[in-house]
Amino acid sequence: MPAKIEKDELSGMETTGHEWDGIKELNTPLPKWWVYLFYATILFSIAWWILYPAWPSLTGYTKGVLGSNQRLEVEERLAEGRARQQKWLEQIAAKSPAEIRADPELLRFATVGGQAAFATNCAPCHAAGGAGQGFFPALVDDEWIWGGTLEDIEYSIRHGIRNVDDPQARASVMPAFGADGILDRAQIRDVTQFVLQWSGRATDQAAVARGAALYAEHCASCHGENGEGMTALGAPRLSDAIWLYGGKVEQIEAQIWRPRHGVMPPWQGRLSDETIKMLTVYVHGLGGGQ
Ligand code: HEC
Ligand code: HEC
Repeated sequence: MPAKIEKDELSGMETTGHEWDGIKELNTPLPKWWVYLFYATILFSIAWWILYPAWPSLTGYTKGVLGSNQRLEVEERLAEGRARQQKWLEQIAAKSPAEIRADPELLRFATVGGQAAFATNCAPCHAAGGAGQGFFPALVDDEWIWGGTLEDIEYSIRHGIRNVDDPQARASVMPAFGADGILDRAQIRDVTQFVLQWSGRATDQAAVARGAALYAEHCASCHGENGEGMTALGAPRLSDAIWLYGGKVEQIEAQIWRPRHGVMPPWQGRLSDETIKMLTVYVHGLGGGQ
């Protein structure tokens, strides 16, 4: 039996002729604007398929007649960026860190580049921003073990410190006064008290007096008469409150008994020359540069 189409009395609309248990279905057509929009989207997609890359095929994909390729566009833009960087890198390659520092624009580029290289290569030891941590020295202050001029910093970065990889690495070794039997425990206690009197923390004046002679004989040649330190030998200043290996009495005694001999890897050969210069300028600019 064909479906019976009739007018619904309440709404005045036609029914579809379907009826279930006395419930009839109204025939409500889609609004015209919606239908046309729908057709428009179909036409749009067909046009898109023709113009732009769209369908995967066994060997690749349909390329589209416009020849648009976003991957190529990205590559072009990257190449542009590299070319722009290249201009700066060439200048950095040709100049010394001091000359880079004297050129405000170049300095800005080098600082940003140095900061990025520092985060990847140096922060694991020296902490973010060169704040220092554990036995790795802070690079933000003006306390320098090996010197804080641009030349000193560049040398420390290029060759590293007490490593076996670079024959030009900075090297100077504090003797193991206790472990090698140069001083006994009592003498180490005395010289520690003498060292502490500079920062006003000595607790035993008799020991300070005994320690003075020991210090002059065994320590002053590296750490200086007045504990001022000596960057040429990498001997830290002892007359202030900054301690790489800890300022507690036991920690200072432990260092004198058997020094730690901190090691830093060389970066020449691992990082480009330009990167090392940028790092030099960056570290120098962290606050303590001389
Ligand atoms: C594996 C750990 C380690 C890494 C990585 C490292 N350093 Fe060092 N660095 C050290 C240690 C340890 C010292 C101190 C050595 C000593 O006792 O004299 C040091 C010292 C320095 C000094 C001399 C500080 C002074 O007071 O004279 C500079 C400058 C320096 N590092 C810069 C860098 C830069 C820049 C990088 C990244 C390219 C870097 N370091 C990566 C461990 C590290
Ligand atoms: C040959 C040079 C040399 C002599 C001699 C020497 N030192 Fe050192 N001293 C160093 C160096 C280099 C360091 C750097 C630390 C390291 O990595 O071992 C250092 C580090 C230290 C430190 C740790 C400083 C810190 O910031 O934590 C103390 C303390 C110290 N020396 C005390 C002494 C005393 C006391 C004597 C004499 C009994 C002495 N040193 C003799 C070279 C020397």
